[in-house]
Amino acid sequence: MKALVYHGPRKVSVDNVDDATIEKQTDVLVRITTTNICGSDLHMYEGRTDMPANSVLGHENMGEVIAVGKAVDRVKVGDRVVLPFNIGCGFCANCERGLSAFCLTTADRSVMPNMAGAAYGFADMGPYRGGQAQLLRVPYGDYNCLVLPEDAAEKERDYVMLSDIFPTGWHSTRLANLTPGDSVVIYGSGPVGLMATLSARVQGASRIFVVDHNTDRLALAEKLGATPIVEDEGREVQQILDATSGQGTDCGCECIGYQCHTPQGKEVPNLVMNSLVNAVKFTGSIGVVGVFVPQDPGGADELAKKGEIAFDFGKFWFKGQKIGTGQCNVKAYNRKLMELIHNGRANPSAIISHELPLSEAPDAYKNFDKRVEGWHKVILHPQAA
Ligand SMILES: NC(=O)c1ccc[n+]([C@@H]2O[C@H](COP(=O)([O-])OP(=O)(O)OC[C@H]3O[C@@H](n4cnc5c(N)ncnc54)[C@H](O)[C@@H]3O)[C@@H](O)[C@H]2O)c1
Ligand SMILES: [Zn+2]
Ligand SMILES: [Zn+2]
Repeated sequence: MKALVYHGPRKVSVDNVDDATIEKQTDVLVRITTTNICGSDLHMYEGRTDMPANSVLGHENMGEVIAVGKAVDRVKVGDRVVLPFNIGCGFCANCERGLSAFCLTTADRSVMPNMAGAAYGFADMGPYRGGQAQLLRVPYGDYNCLVLPEDAAEKERDYVMLSDIFPTGWHSTRLANLTPGDSVVIYGSGPVGLMATLSARVQGASRIFVVDHNTDRLALAEKLGATPIVEDEGREVQQILDATSGQGTDCGCECIGYQCHTPQGKEVPNLVMNSLVNAVKFTGSIGVVGVFVPQDPGGADELAKKGEIAFDFGKFWFKGQKIGTGQCNVKAYNRKLMELIHNGRANPSAIISHELPLSEAPDAYKNFDKRVEGWHKVILHPQAA
C-alpha cells in the first residue's frame, strides 16, 4: 500500500510499504478514504519528538471497513467509519470511565512504566501505524469504530473532523467549564482553535474572543462568529479586559501548545499560559488541549528542554482559577457531535482549505508547517490517483 512515511525532520515521502492487515481477531481493517494533516503531526514532522524514522503518520482517519477479525461482532464489512485518533480497549479502568485517551491496555510501557494512552502514527503513543495510507489496522474495532449514518459519503468532509479536531475543540470548552451565556477567550486560530470556536458557538457562548498573530486564520475565526484579537506578546490581554469591564472572560481555551511563539517566531513556551491567567476572570477555568511534552530536547531554553515552563502559579492561585489538560477523549463526544453534523447543526468542514491526493502530502506538510497563507486545514484522499 502507499503511505506517508516520516524519514527525519521535515523529510516525508509517499512510499510503498507492507499492507496493513488483521493481526488480532479483535481488529478491523479499513480502506482509508480521507485522512487529515494535523498540527500534532507538525511536532513530529519538525523533529520535535522522538518519532522513529520509517513511521507512517496520520491519526485523523475515516474510511470503509473491508475486513473484520473473527471476534468482531458489531462492525461489518462495508460500514463507513470514522476512527478516534486515540486507540482504546474499552474495558480498562480508564476506558470504562470514558477516558479513552488514557487507555491502559494499548499504551506503550517502554515510554514510562505507568504510561496511559495510545494513538495512530504518534510519537510515544505505541507502535500503531498511521492512516495517511491506503489501509489502516484498527485494534479493538468494535470499540474504536464510529459507524456513520447513510449520509457518510455526502458529508465525508465534515465527518472526518470527528477523528480529532472537532472533539478536541469541544474538549477544550468542556475542560474550561463553558456554560451557555459565558464569554470565552480562545488562544490559537489553527484548526483546533477554530473547532473550539465552533464548539463554543454551538454551546451558547455569549462572546468568543480568538487570539492569534496569523491574521489570515483570524479572519476565518471571525467568519465562525469570533471577535479576532491580534496577539502581541501578552499586551493583547488588555483588549480582552477592556471588553469585559476589566474582569476578564468567564473561561479560556489553550489551542496552541508548547511551540507557542511571538509574532516574529521566537518560541516562548510560557507566553500563552500566562496570558490566559491574565485574560480569564477570578474563579474562571482554562482548558488546555495544545500539546505540552514531558521533555523537549529542541526546546527554547533550559526549562523547556525539561518540559517545564515558568507558569504564573501565584496569580493563578490568587485568582482561584482551575485548569484542565490533556489529550481529548474522542469517544466521550464523537457520537453526539456526529448527530450535530447529521442534523445540519454543525459544519466543521468550513475550515478545510485543501483537499488533495495522498501523493501531494509532502508538499502539503511543507506549506501547512510554514503556515503559508490560505493553508488552514488539509484533507488527503489516499485512494485518489
Ligand atoms: N489535546 C488533544 O487531544 C489534541 C488534539 C489535536 C491537536 N492538539 C494540539 O493542539 C494544538 C493546535 O493544533 P492545530 O492543528 O490547531 O495547530 P496549528 O499549529 O495549525 O495552530 C496553532 C496556531 O497557534 C498560533 N500561535 C502560535 N503562537 C501563538 C501565540 N503566542 N499566541 C496566539 N497564537 C499563537 C499559530 O499562529 C497557529 O495559527 C497543537 O499543539 C496540537 O498538537 C491536541
Ligand atoms: Zn490531530
Ligand atoms: Zn482501555
